[in-house]
Amino acid sequence: MKPRVVVGSPLVGDALERVRAIADVTLSQRATGFSRGELLAEVATADALIALPSQRVDVTLLDAAERLRIVANHAVGVDNVDLEACRARSIVVTNTPGVLTEATADLAFGLLLDAARRISEGDRLVRAGAWEGWAPTFLLGTRVHRATLGIVGFGRIGQAVARRALGFSMKVLHCGSRGQMDGTRAASLDELLATSDFVSLHAPLRPETRGLLSRERLRSMKRGAVLINTARGPLVDEVALAELLHEGHLAGAGLDVYDGEPQVHPALLAAPRIVLAPHLGSGDVEARTAMARLACDAVVAFFDGTDVPNRVV
Ligand code: DGY
Repeated sequence: MKPRVVVGSPLVGDALERVRAIADVTLSQRATGFSRGELLAEVATADALIALPSQRVDVTLLDAAERLRIVANHAVGVDNVDLEACRARSIVVTNTPGVLTEATADLAFGLLLDAARRISEGDRLVRAGAWEGWAPTFLLGTRVHRATLGIVGFGRIGQAVARRALGFSMKVLHCGSRGQMDGTRAASLDELLATSDFVSLHAPLRPETRGLLSRERLRSMKRGAVLINTARGPLVDEVALAELLHEGHLAGAGLDVYDGEPQVHPALLAAPRIVLAPHLGSGDVEARTAMARLACDAVVAFFDGTDVPNRVV
């Protein structure tokens, strides 16, 4: 009997055809994927699951999925998956590292430029017919060239952001991983926050990084700094961030990720000088095609009995 593979949503490209060749595939037709209730019902007879980062693979789901043997997470972050519970059940877990690095770094740098130079804010003014004309004092932003960028989490994506920053003659500080790059310098988180004009987050969400940018740490950021988060929302105290933007302690923020997304905290929606993107980090065609390929490769390899690539568990 062919294995049954449940796929959280339609995927980009044709990688799923290789899974269809060896398995019975059940696919949500909704772009945003199966709802929680639908997924709980679908996994009851699934041997494999290709999960979206928005789909929680927790004990409740695993208890409902007695036959499940592999979870191929369609994301590099695996904070949506209870890894310990999978390990305890001998369920293999894979992710999609490496292929979304440049796409996510592009988005982080785009948010940085937008938040610094108030592009989206200006766009809204123009569309509202509220642009009264050029003025020396109008929508003044923050200089990016030669500014200091602090990168929290210096793995693949953090380093890709650093390469972009060096092209803008930025001084780059980093903390949180052992990566090294010419023209950049490792610093403590305290020093990085106190001295950076821009801070960009690239740390995974783990118990020890949840709330990493607490109210106190946000307040310890240099006055007039800009925060960029393309990693995970719960790294940041969102209410405190909104307050510091209102106070003018921070000059701006660019966010792509939120605690509880797709809901966005009302405090963030009401905050000034903030660019809010809808989790687009990996959203270019190349990255999403490659993510689908890696997730499908893992499932095919698992049922072929060959080495499963990109195993996390
Ligand atoms: C990931 O892969 O973790 C990203 O957040 C998805 O865009």
